[in-house]
Amino acid sequence: MNRKEFLIAGSLSAFSVSIFGNVKPKGNDFEGDCETTNDILGPFYRPDVPVRNDLTAKDLKGTVVELKGKVFRGDCTTPIENAMVEIWHCNTDGEYDNESKHFHLRGKWLTDEKGNYSFKTILPGKYLNGSQYRPAHIHFRVTAEGSRELISQLYFQGDPHITNDPWASKKEAERRILPIALEDIHGNLSVVFDISLRDN
Ligand SMILES: [Fe+2]
Repeated sequence: MNRKEFLIAGSLSAFSVSIFGNVKPKGNDFEGDCETTNDILGPFYRPDVPVRNDLTAKDLKGTVVELKGKVFRGDCTTPIENAMVEIWHCNTDGEYDNESKHFHLRGKWLTDEKGNYSFKTILPGKYLNGSQYRPAHIHFRVTAEGSRELISQLYFQGDPHITNDPWASKKEAERRILPIALEDIHGNLSVVFDISLRDN
C-alpha cells in the first residue's frame, strides 16, 4: 500500500465508525450497509412495559449510566420522530424482572422530532448461558412507521466475555459494542447508540 492508498484507507476507516456505518467505496460513490443489525430476542422479553425513560430506583444497586442516541431511517441520516425504543436488561446480580408489576429495568420511550431518545439506567450485570457468562448487554426493540421492527442487543467495549459469546462475537455485532464515556466533569457515564432502521 502506498502513502496515498494508506491515507484513503485511513479516512475510510474513520468514516466507518460514523453514523454511516460500514461504508464501502463504489466508484466515486459510497454504498452503505449502515442499518443496525439484529440480535436474538432472548427469553426475557415482556410486552406492555411502562412508558418511561428513568429506570433507576432509590434502592437499586448499580452504576448509573445514560443511554442515548438517535433513530434514523434506512439512509442512516434522516431522523425518525416517534420511533418507539424499548429496552430491557438484568440487574447487577444478572437477574431480570420477569414477573413483578414494577417492570424493573424495563421501559420504552418515543423519539423526539430530531430522532433523539435517552434512558437513565444502570450498567447491567451478567448471567450464565450454560457454563459461561454472557457479556453485559442491553436488549432493545425499536419500531417506527415505515420501518421494519428491529430487535437487537448492545454490548460494552472491553468486556472479556464478548469473545466467547455466540452472539456478541459475531461480525455483525461489532458496531453494537460501545464505549462507556465520561459524560461530564462530575464523573457521570454515558453510552451513545445511534440506531438506523431498515425502511419498509
Ligand atoms: Fe439478556
